[in-house]
Amino acid sequence: MSRTPQRFYLTTPIYYATGEPHIGHAYTTFLADTVARYHRQAGAQVHFLTGTDEHGQKIQEEADRRDLKPIELCDEMAERFREAWEHLDISYDRFIRTTEAEHIRVVQAFLNRLNDRGLIYEDRYSGWYCVHEERYWTEKDLGQERSCPECGRPVREIEEKNYFFRMSRFQEELIQHLETHPEWIVPKARQNEVLGFLQKPLSDLSISRPRSRLSWGVPLPFDEDHVTYVWVDALINYVTASGAIRPDSPPGEQGFEDVSGSWWPADLHIIGKDILTTHAVYWPTLLLGAGLPLPRKILSHGWWVVGETKMSKSLGNVVDPLELEEEFGKDAVRWYLIREMPTGHDASYTPERFLARYEELANILGNLASRVLSMVDRYRGGEIPSAEADGLAAKEKALVERYREAMDALRVHEALGAGMEMAREANGYVETQEPWTLAKDPNRSRELDETLATLLRSLAVVAGLLFPVMPAKMEELARRIGLDGVPTLEALSSLNLAGREVERGSPLFPRKETEVS
Ligand code: MSP
Repeated sequence: MSRTPQRFYLTTPIYYATGEPHIGHAYTTFLADTVARYHRQAGAQVHFLTGTDEHGQKIQEEADRRDLKPIELCDEMAERFREAWEHLDISYDRFIRTTEAEHIRVVQAFLNRLNDRGLIYEDRYSGWYCVHEERYWTEKDLGQERSCPECGRPVREIEEKNYFFRMSRFQEELIQHLETHPEWIVPKARQNEVLGFLQKPLSDLSISRPRSRLSWGVPLPFDEDHVTYVWVDALINYVTASGAIRPDSPPGEQGFEDVSGSWWPADLHIIGKDILTTHAVYWPTLLLGAGLPLPRKILSHGWWVVGETKMSKSLGNVVDPLELEEEFGKDAVRWYLIREMPTGHDASYTPERFLARYEELANILGNLASRVLSMVDRYRGGEIPSAEADGLAAKEKALVERYREAMDALRVHEALGAGMEMAREANGYVETQEPWTLAKDPNRSRELDETLATLLRSLAVVAGLLFPVMPAKMEELARRIGLDGVPTLEALSSLNLAGREVERGSPLFPRKETEVS
């Protein structure tokens, strides 16, 4: 089956280098990691990009606050993110920092390209600015509160000379793209939201800041007294990391006309719903302006909330499920976050739901592994018998199909549900086959062999399906059934486990009596 593309380039947002990684960053990154690993499991060559967003006023102010140079703050934070992702088994292929020399040159080449195409002009800007969101707002946006409509913080009035990108020129083309690609943004409601936004006339986009006000940014290649607006700089990271642009080549040969041989266009940008406009309006219009192809898909996920409010450090309402990692292990946290939140929608963290999801791991999957491994031990001296392993073949076929369909449609939570269903089916099969009864009857030895072979196969299938979300535990499970690694989806069809030695070991997901809070 070759529905999945052979090459797959996916990205997370690049995270502001102002604070420590938190649940929001972790969720986006776990989701991307699960999708990346799924595509590798399905045989694709994957390029998985993450990184840090290191320019702009927010960084400069945080560095001032800590009495550091901006680059010192960024060095420290980039390292923190890298460490966190390594610790949490994030299989990224490239970690980009927007302060990298290569990226700075690509941003400048990109801006020169827009300028050469007559898409940049100078004008005065007056309006309101929110440093936290790094966004401009109009008088009307502020509403009665007169604060940032996104985060509620105070805004600053600004009047200055800016360079503008003729974003408005691409309004029609973008609407057309959305209309001809009805599944460009997942979920559908977000696609409609963007179409709704495009009903109003699109304004041009301010792409610069005077250096006199903000020096921490990429200098405009055509006016050194101005630096690039941080969102423009940040979005271009996706192109930098694709290797499509060769900024040191002469204009005309920099790769804007032909991206073949690079990773561009991205197959998937994964973002949170708070940064939908920047990714679904600013970014595609900038790409159209530069003459580059658009990303193939955008997945805009929901928020972890407490009650009705977004969970965020600045709002002071963070319940940190990452702290549960120490007690329950990182794979249990990954499982909870990705399985619990219907991909694309909001979800509310509660300790009760965390425990319920953990119990699913302990009571269904962990229990299946324990009982099957101990039966092979007890009845067959720890060696997997050579016998037909097709007792659950029809269920397996249907569930693998459901899993792939859900993964390909980015209903990741549902795909994981299908993986867990396989374990549930196998537990049911143990009950109906009653291996303990078969073991007492020497005439039914073949039946027992087939039952055990089927169950071992189910464990291999579950390991293959749930590996993307729980890489460490599923590798452990694969090892326990005598495999060198987790089988790919392709390899499952010809998998032969006969003669392998199993290792019983301690429970994969020990039962917990503790309360979580
Ligand atoms: N630097 C920009 C992105 C630039 S991409 C070219 C940025 N950075 S961020 O550090 O604020 O990280 C944002 C990511 O974390 C978003 O995808 C956002 O949705 C996610 N989350 C932050 N808090 C969240 C929750 N409470 N729940 C889920 N994800 C949320 O924006």
